[in-house]
Amino acid sequence: MLGIIGGTGLTRLAELQILAEQSVQTPYGEPSSNILTGELNGETLLFIARHGFEHTLAPHLVNYRANIWALKSLGVEDIVAVNAVGGIADDCSTGDLCIPDQIIDYTYGREFTFCDGPGVQLQHIEFTEPYTSSLRSSLTAAAASAGIGVKDGGVYGAMQGPRLETAAEIRRMKRDGCDLVGMTGMPEAALACELELNYASICMVVNKAAGLSDEPITLDDILAATEQTVVHAKQILVSLCDARRS
Ligand code: HPA
Repeated sequence: MLGIIGGTGLTRLAELQILAEQSVQTPYGEPSSNILTGELNGETLLFIARHGFEHTLAPHLVNYRANIWALKSLGVEDIVAVNAVGGIADDCSTGDLCIPDQIIDYTYGREFTFCDGPGVQLQHIEFTEPYTSSLRSSLTAAAASAGIGVKDGGVYGAMQGPRLETAAEIRRMKRDGCDLVGMTGMPEAALACELELNYASICMVVNKAAGLSDEPITLDDILAATEQTVVHAKQILVSLCDARRS
């Protein structure tokens, strides 16, 4: 089954025909929100709001372990995450969409593994390709059939937040090879991998990263860009459901 993790701009999926809503208890505490079971374009899926339905959880306070564990416990095999990001690469401008293929993790102090309890089997997960290639291909194909242009591949730099970056941090990230900057891509991707789930992301570029534009980054501008870009992200999800049904 498909699970969608909705980020900023996607705390609700209005197109989802909700069939059930459940509160899931996990060994890691409470997930960010209740989990919705619903139908999108005839495909049954689960939906969770990463920052809560009211968008109150900061990126470093999201219980990523509970979210991933809850989705797995309810039968999810494929996770599509939706992430709002800043654009670093020249071809990642406000309003663009990208299906990243790599990650650099700059976060700290988060619960980032399931391998830390007594008696828990130590795993060194294979994480060379942090996003599942087949699920990425399904997303790029879904975008193509919906007539939506996406950048196929890119490096997601996961920063701690909740503040935005300094210009020097973005210059460093650019030198490191990052195309996008966000705050929630990790440890989510690694946790999904530890539980052997397929995982891919639709990144919505909602601003140019710090220092790359003459204009200051304002929350109002970010929210306005998110509102516009999420329309396309949702069309990709609908198209993905179409393809999964047939
Ligand atoms: N930096 C980090 N995370 C973000 C940004 C940004 O510029 N825009 C949206 N999420």
